[in-house]
This record gives sequence, structure tokens and C-alpha cells, in this order.
Amino acid sequence: MTTDSTNGTIPGRIRPRRLRASQRLRSMVQETRVTAEQLIMPHFVLPAEHADEAIASMPGIARLGQQELLRQVEADLELGLRSVLLFGLPAEVEKDPAGKYAADPQSPVVRATRSLKKTFGEELLVITDVCLCAYTDHGHCGILHEGHVLNDPSLPCLAAMAVAHAQAGADLVAPSDMMDGRVAAIRDALDDRDLSSTGILSYSVKYASAYYGPFRDAAASAPGKGDRKGYQMDPANVREAVKESLLDEEEGADMLMVKPALAYLDVIRRVREESLLPLAAYNVSGEYSAVKAAAERGWLDEAAIVRENLFAMARAGADVIITYHAREALRGGWL
Ligand code: PBG
Ligand code: ZN
Repeated sequence: MTTDSTNGTIPGRIRPRRLRASQRLRSMVQETRVTAEQLIMPHFVLPAEHADEAIASMPGIARLGQQELLRQVEADLELGLRSVLLFGLPAEVEKDPAGKYAADPQSPVVRATRSLKKTFGEELLVITDVCLCAYTDHGHCGILHEGHVLNDPSLPCLAAMAVAHAQAGADLVAPSDMMDGRVAAIRDALDDRDLSSTGILSYSVKYASAYYGPFRDAAASAPGKGDRKGYQMDPANVREAVKESLLDEEEGADMLMVKPALAYLDVIRRVREESLLPLAAYNVSGEYSAVKAAAERGWLDEAAIVRENLFAMARAGADVIITYHAREALRGGWL
């Protein structure tokens, strides 16, 4: 047998495989853990009292009416799933160029937030997506003028939406529009109305990604004309992710986010190292649907893949993970 200075003979005294010998040992020395407390379940909320519409491109996920949402959240709480992210799906007739209905006290998200907080109180953390694209008739995330999304005129609309959600009892509002200065505008609007304890989870790093495809199907929120590259980030960039995150931190964000997650693990790591704020990773619709589609065909083992993917996000530095897999992962004991 040969020898070397650090390890004696090869194979030698130091054998990493010893700690992999049994499940007991492996779980004891496991470096990263993903727990129910870290997971956030997204929901698509309809205005109807009763509705349950399957989403073809997202098996296992549905658009829910107000009552079905309450029941689903109640069942999820039993699994230890204590945080939700709400997306509103207003009727087509409510949409207009400015997305005014986004701030309406009768909007599906405002109503759902009110009844969730009334029913579950502190048991449940309610986070609401703040963006105009589901409420504008053109499908862009801000006010559109001659083919361009205007930045500053969009800010009051976003702030009004955030205020409506906060007044309904949202614990955190989560702006996903990518307008410059929206975190500051929302923070000021909340503070002016004695809503200083409502937090902001900023989608600070949101790429213009094809991974949002199934979501736009589910939420009917695809832009009618053009794309979102004028406001969402170029997938080629990472320094810009740091810049966006530090800006949002200065503007008063309480938590940051990187979205999507899996193709951006390096970005999660960078942002984790540059900011002290808690960081969320958004495991988006296309990432979910790709796993689902392959699993349905028997090409991938869903439980093992989901575990591997969620651990990758946590290992990269995500403190919190927003994922459509949350319910099944907990129910199945996949983590
Ligand atoms: C709205 C919004 C989108 C997502 C979250 N908020 C879509 C988009 O920006 O086009 C994507 C979520 C997902 O794909 O799961 N601005
Ligand atoms: Zn949007």
C-alpha cells in the first residue's frame, strides 16, 4: 500500500464513508435542514365564494374560491404549513389600464386576507403579492404608455394595493412588479396610515424568466403585447442582483427574494453574502411543472427530486422557500 503525509495509507485512517454508514449517522451530521416553518405555499384566489378550478399546466394546484381557500389552508395548517402567499385573480370586467381594482376593498385577495386572519389569526402568516399585472387590461406590471411601462406613475397604484392588503391584515406585502423605488413608496404609504408593523418581503431580484410560463396561464397575467424585459432582470446578470437587493434594503425592505430559484443558485448565494436580511427563494411555476411532468411520465422520482431541489435552495443560502411543492413535500415526509 502507498502512503501519504496526511492520510497514512490509502485508503487510510481517514474515511469519510464512516459517517455515511447508517441513516442515523447521516441524519445526525446532515448540514442543511428544511423545515415546515421555512416553507410558503402560494395560492391563486378567485372572487367567487365557491370555486375549485384545476390548472392544467400545474398538476396539484388549483384556483380556489374564498371558501375552498379557507378549507385548504386549514388542512395545510394540520401539516404544519403556516405561511401562504396570495395571488388574486379578478374577473376580466374588473381590469382597467391602471389596475385600480388591485386596491379595492372587495378584491379577492383583500377579502381572502381578512377572512384568513379572522379565522386563523396568529396561527397563519399571510403574505400578499403586490403587482398590477393581474389587474391591468394590458397585463403589464405597471402603467403602460405608448408601449412603455412608466415607473413613477405606477408607484401610487402599487402603494395603494399594499395599503389595502395591510389594512385587511396581511403580515407581509410582497411587491413583485420591479418598478424602481416601489419599496420606499410602499413603506411610506404604510407608515403614513399607522401600518408600520406590516412588513415588506421584496421580490428584490426578479429575472425576466421563461420559468413563469405556467403561472401566467394560471393567473391569466401574460402581457398582451411585448414582454417584461424592460423591468425584470436579464438572466445574464448577477452584480445587478446585489445592487437591487442593497437598494431595496435601503428603501426599507424587511426580507429579500431571488426568483426563480434553481437556475439562480449562485445569485441566492451572492445576495445571502451581501445582505443581512432574511432571504427567500421562489421555486416558481415552471420549475414545479417541469418536475411534475417528468414525474408523471415516470422519468423522475418526484419525492427525491423535490427533496434535492429544496435542499439546493437552502444550501445556496435561502432562509425561506416559496414552493408549490410545499404541501406534498410535508404530507409525504419528503424532507
Ligand atoms: C406577477 C408575478 C409573476 C410571478 C409571481 N408574481 C409572473 C410574472 O412576473 O410574469 C411568477 C410566479 C411563478 O411563476 O410561480 N408579477
Ligand atoms: Zn406583475
